[in-house]
Amino acid sequence: MAVLGIDEVTYRAEDLPACKKFFLDWGLKLVSESAQQLVFHTLNECVVRVAHPSTPGLPAGLEEGPTMVEVVWGVESESDLQTYAANLKDNPAFSLTDGRVRAIDPNGVTIGVQVSRKKPVTLECGEFNTWSHRRRVNKPAPFYERATPIEVGHVVFYVANRVEAVKFYEDKLGFVVSDQYPNRGSFMRCAPKGGHHDMFLLQLPSGKKGLNHVAFTVRDIHEVVGGGMAMDRHGWKTELGPGRHPVSSAYFWYFENPAGALCEYYADEDELTGEWQSRDFEPGPTVFAEWAISGGLDGNTRRPKGAAAPANKFMTDKTAA
Ligand SMILES: [Fe+2]
Repeated sequence: MAVLGIDEVTYRAEDLPACKKFFLDWGLKLVSESAQQLVFHTLNECVVRVAHPSTPGLPAGLEEGPTMVEVVWGVESESDLQTYAANLKDNPAFSLTDGRVRAIDPNGVTIGVQVSRKKPVTLECGEFNTWSHRRRVNKPAPFYERATPIEVGHVVFYVANRVEAVKFYEDKLGFVVSDQYPNRGSFMRCAPKGGHHDMFLLQLPSGKKGLNHVAFTVRDIHEVVGGGMAMDRHGWKTELGPGRHPVSSAYFWYFENPAGALCEYYADEDELTGEWQSRDFEPGPTVFAEWAISGGLDGNTRRPKGAAAPANKFMTDKTAA
């Protein structure tokens, strides 16, 4: 029995037209739309909901303004759901309706648990040739004109009391700590076997609570870069990326999101099992990013933002002075 991953996230945001454009450009599928809410699917039908603040019954969230107000975790079976319901029954705002358990975590985030409604997807992914493994033969590697995210892979919150929040997710939902910044941040995965993190909890010296980012899984680094350059062509602003995290090994690209905080494309995180020993890291610029492009790549010139565009078909064709 284990939590499988994120099944649904709900944002609260006033500017629905901007959010609609953002998530369509991001590569999600719009499956329903009303004056009050937008509902999108990723490829495996993970749900991304954007609700207008006037929507009745919307959770309060951790901060003013656009933000994520609920994250729903998927489990395997009805009996698992009943077990998690029993674990959560003493938490604030507990309910079990329409097959979904709801409660508020110690940080104030409304969480849901339901039998997963995501669909299995089989995708053809490119292979990588390394010195020892020549997996891609007589076949060019993939190039992406845009991303089509597979699922919501992880969420990152600022918490007021990290120790208490980590204990809650360990004790009530069976999460496991993958790595930590001692006294500052904990990367957690839903189960001993799985990707490096489904959630990262970060405690600021100020104790401020909030959303840091929501991350969408794509196939590989090529889709991170192709997707990010498409977002740039659509006029969305890079916060940081592309780049690569030493903790988790994943490639990333972060964008500012009108629905709240940052939105990340990521790929190629470490896959862990129960054998993994949690590591401690001292925070620092080279720990957050092995490398990163500040301001992003320009989707038209394919160069760092602000760099001169290539002038000729061949880089060796120098323009006469
Ligand atoms: Fe992330």
